[in-house]
Amino acid sequence: MSEQAPKTSVIYCGDCLDELKRLPDNCIDLVYIDPPFNSNRNYEVFWGDTQQRRAFEDRFGDAKAYCEYMFPRVAEIYRVLKKTGSFYYHCDWHASHYIKVKILDEIFGFNAFQNEIVWKRTSSHNDTKRWAHIHDTILFYAGPKFSWNPIYLEHDKNYVETFYRYKDDRGVYRLDHIIRSASMGPRPNLTYEYKGYTPEWGWRTTRDKLKALDKDDRITWSRTGRPYLKRYLHEQKGVTAPTIWDDILPVQAQASERLGYPTQKPVALLERIVKASSNEGDIVLDPFCGCGTALVAAQKLNRRWIGIDIAPSACRVMGERLERDCGLKRNRDFMIENLPISVKRLRDLPPDEFQEWCVHALSQGIPGSTSVVSPTMSGDMGIDGKLYLVDRLSLKAGAKKVKKLKKGEQVLAFDPLENYIPIQVKQKDKVGRPDIDEFYAAIKRDKRNRGFFAAFGYADTARKECERLWLEEQISIQLVTVKQLIDRDFRKELEYIRMLGGG
Ligand SMILES: C[S@@+](CC[C@H](N)C(=O)[O-])C[C@H]1O[C@@H](n2cnc3c(N)ncnc32)[C@H](O)[C@@H]1O
Repeated sequence: MSEQAPKTSVIYCGDCLDELKRLPDNCIDLVYIDPPFNSNRNYEVFWGDTQQRRAFEDRFGDAKAYCEYMFPRVAEIYRVLKKTGSFYYHCDWHASHYIKVKILDEIFGFNAFQNEIVWKRTSSHNDTKRWAHIHDTILFYAGPKFSWNPIYLEHDKNYVETFYRYKDDRGVYRLDHIIRSASMGPRPNLTYEYKGYTPEWGWRTTRDKLKALDKDDRITWSRTGRPYLKRYLHEQKGVTAPTIWDDILPVQAQASERLGYPTQKPVALLERIVKASSNEGDIVLDPFCGCGTALVAAQKLNRRWIGIDIAPSACRVMGERLERDCGLKRNRDFMIENLPISVKRLRDLPPDEFQEWCVHALSQGIPGSTSVVSPTMSGDMGIDGKLYLVDRLSLKAGAKKVKKLKKGEQVLAFDPLENYIPIQVKQKDKVGRPDIDEFYAAIKRDKRNRGFFAAFGYADTARKECERLWLEEQISIQLVTVKQLIDRDFRKELEYIRMLGGG
């Protein structure tokens, strides 16, 4: 059995099958997974403020294909999980039964199955011809000596109203049994007389303890002369969390934690799992971590963590979220590894991921700039992204346009968001003249005089057309190759843009 400790505070970009293989055996305390479901739907994903829309496709048409895809990944998870570790598989009605029988019972063993948790994720669903699907299923597996910290929830309101009907100076209380019932059978050593009362089957505590309770005014006598123990509401820990979770709301449209990822889970849900099934310092792994909810929960609860996601854009969003919500700094407090930085890997990316990568790589190469990727599905009329120059120079240029209205009253007539350079991205080896013409039309329509084009390479006709546009119309289309973006060797060429301000 390996004792090797894996590197933590790291997000790996890649297929978790490959990334998990690099982790040692028996090194993780808790794994939570929330892989794409077998729902065969197309999602439109809205990312954050930028409202980028992209296709998020659940790829699996049938349960067999889904199980075949997931089986080797879960087998790797089982290998890296400590024998004292816990595993949670978040899924829904589409495949939960197949997942349990065909994957989890096979790999973990039927006896490792601990719970099926029902998370009520919405209160209504538009199913007019059958019962509405309003819950997700979370399957919990663990070996014989797994960590467990019970979670207590507040008592149900109805329960409190029905049973906690009494009140004294100390607080609200309910009556609990202090004498044994017939079903419990006799206990001769607990059968004694106290204040003239001898219960038939004995007391539930010793004479000394009973006396102490009575002295503390915790014993009360009914009108029929029967003794009871007072249980104060404020002294109860609550009820141990059951398997039905209806007290955690989904991430609401207005929630501050919302990133726009359709399958984003609430931090509260992950906090409950992390608290119950791990201890401070333990390692939490999420190999399908999306926008990183499990990592945020682990970080907040002082656990170590490892995340994996196949989508570079998810890894980037996750990184930003860890910086914003947890105060961490990338490359100091955590790392994102294996982001696609070879031409070959970039060629294999889906078009929306490629577009996102190019737009962000451009802005990373231009200090003081920031970028926004355009919606993929609707398209932004020939513009794939916008580069904003928000550095000191461009703000200074804009500040000159401050209008003086009345004495002492100023209005900034300069909107930095209007000060952008359009970006066009093509996942092509030879961008030709027609692509340039199309981009030129978009630049003109947006009343800009320059733009960036990013692609693997350009035909001579494209280069010539850009020269002509510059000479004859003073419209500058800067052709950048993916190799330049990787090497960042376009920086110097673009320096002049900062000096000029925006488009
Ligand atoms: C349902 S989302 C996870 C959402 C996450 N629980 C959250 O709250 O943000 C599933 C994620 O799995 C990722 N994914 C899909 N296949 C993968 C694979 N083979 N390896 C790693 N990640 C994968 C997708 O990119 C997606 O981000």
